[in-house]
Amino acid sequence: MTMQVEKFTATFGARVTGVELASLTDAAFDQIYDLWLDRALLVFPEQHLTKDEQKAFANRFGDLEFELSPIGNVRKDGSLRANDESDRVVQILKGNEGWHYDSTYVEVQALATVFTAHQVPSKDGQTAWADMRAAYAALDDDLKTRVEGLSAHHSLYHSQRKIGHNPRAGSGYGFDDQEPPLRPLVKIPPETGVPALLIGRHAFDIPGLSEKESEELLQGLTEFACQAPRVYVHDWTVGDAILWDNRCLMHRAHPWDYSEAREMWLARIAGDPLTESGVLEAG
Ligand SMILES: [Fe+2]
Repeated sequence: MTMQVEKFTATFGARVTGVELASLTDAAFDQIYDLWLDRALLVFPEQHLTKDEQKAFANRFGDLEFELSPIGNVRKDGSLRANDESDRVVQILKGNEGWHYDSTYVEVQALATVFTAHQVPSKDGQTAWADMRAAYAALDDDLKTRVEGLSAHHSLYHSQRKIGHNPRAGSGYGFDDQEPPLRPLVKIPPETGVPALLIGRHAFDIPGLSEKESEELLQGLTEFACQAPRVYVHDWTVGDAILWDNRCLMHRAHPWDYSEAREMWLARIAGDPLTESGVLEAG
């Protein structure tokens, strides 16, 4: 089998065929790893990975941040959740509809994610990604200089409250008592050396700016960043597996009709504490 790579017309991403992720040779993995560093998002159609296979592929990049997890409206018993925002799981799904990086609200943000489709609705429910390397590169010089000197706090409490929810401490992942990590607005992973804007719905409270200035800057950056040619939207087909770099891409889910099942499985790969840690300030 020969690996075929078709680059997307967006500033990032590629569709990769002619590989079986469940049985990759080390040489094929090395090729995928280099392609992932370059394109940041890789779509692998028709993989139909089992949970063990998904986990094994993700583990080639590192340890998982937490166990393989279902994402969607399908309960363990196969029944569907109603679109009811008093349901804590639905609150998280609604939150996922805003542009974000994963895990920036905990001390170590995620390195990458392997996401697979197991049941998909007949329409909608896409996932979109946006290229924060290209976004940074497209800023004018004054704005580049301004953001290079700034940092923001990141909090899942903050982002969930902004959409009208009021999570309690201890009520789920990301809802701990720790201080919100402080992260520079420009992230440069040493592995690539390519700067990317580090913003998104969890970011707030830029030291040195008022709450209003901070919100306006972050909102303005997100609106500028998340538009063509820096966005790719994926229509899922059962069997798809997608790998992305959480150090340079934001993503968001599109809503769907909850009378239809959407069952995805998430393998979130832990970041390197040396390079993906935020600063926890003493309270
Ligand atoms: Fe996410």
